[in-house]
Amino acid sequence: MTTTELPLLETRDLCGRYGQIEAIHGIDITVERGAIVALLGANGSGKTSTLRAITGTIKCEGTVVYDGVALARRTPEDCARTGIAHVPEGRGTLSALSVWENLTLGAYTKNRKQTQERYERVVVYFPWLEDRKHQNAGTLSGGEQQMLAIARALMMEPTLMLLDEPSLGLAPMIVRQIFDLLRQINKDDGVSILVAEQNATVALAAADHAYVLEAGNVAVHGPGDELMRDDRVRRSYLGY
Ligand SMILES: Nc1ncnc2c1ncn2[C@@H]1O[C@H](COP(=O)(O)OP(=O)(O)O)[C@@H](O)[C@H]1O
Ligand SMILES: [Mg+2]
Repeated sequence: MTTTELPLLETRDLCGRYGQIEAIHGIDITVERGAIVALLGANGSGKTSTLRAITGTIKCEGTVVYDGVALARRTPEDCARTGIAHVPEGRGTLSALSVWENLTLGAYTKNRKQTQERYERVVVYFPWLEDRKHQNAGTLSGGEQQMLAIARALMMEPTLMLLDEPSLGLAPMIVRQIFDLLRQINKDDGVSILVAEQNATVALAAADHAYVLEAGNVAVHGPGDELMRDDRVRRSYLGY
């Protein structure tokens, strides 16, 4: 990799608001190509709002540059078309639909043959999907639903995956499994990942770089292993 290579995603002075309330106040984040980047911070610090501002789901200002191109007036659909998959908070799987229907929703830009090819790739990471294809997504466990949400995002063959608290409400063993899978997907498929997490321990272990948010601003950032070793950061921002 040359030092002049463009980052995959860059936000500059990104602000996002809900009506009159500004939730994030100028966030600068860089995701290098092929990196796993963690977005940490307490509840209400602005993680979800940052991801939503990136995909244009909330009212926002500032710039988002993706693959060297400024994404002006973007919508979640624009982002999907450019290769950004968003796995939202609460997963967003449709419980009344089957596993297979949920997966095909992720592949809406693909024809039947491409969808099948993509499925064959995705099922390598989630082999249990094959037996559960026709089951209603609502009957899956919480961990399985989170994995289905990730699998659905992968169906669109993304370059960048945004994940919002994939560990939420899941047992530690399942959380480890999910982060192991994310690392494997990152390594084997080259998908770059920006993951918002309250579970700093597990996220930092996977991340090349991490940003800690506090009240809608970046309080500190650095390489994952550096932040993990920094006592001040641990005590002040990570709570362990
Ligand atoms: N729908 C909303 N309407 C008004 N304020 C909101 C809404 N969602 C979030 N906020 C506010 O924005 C701030 C950041 O929230 P959020 O991005 O959800 O944080 P996190 O994901 O880190 O928990 C908080 O102060 C929160 O109260
Ligand atoms: Mg959140």
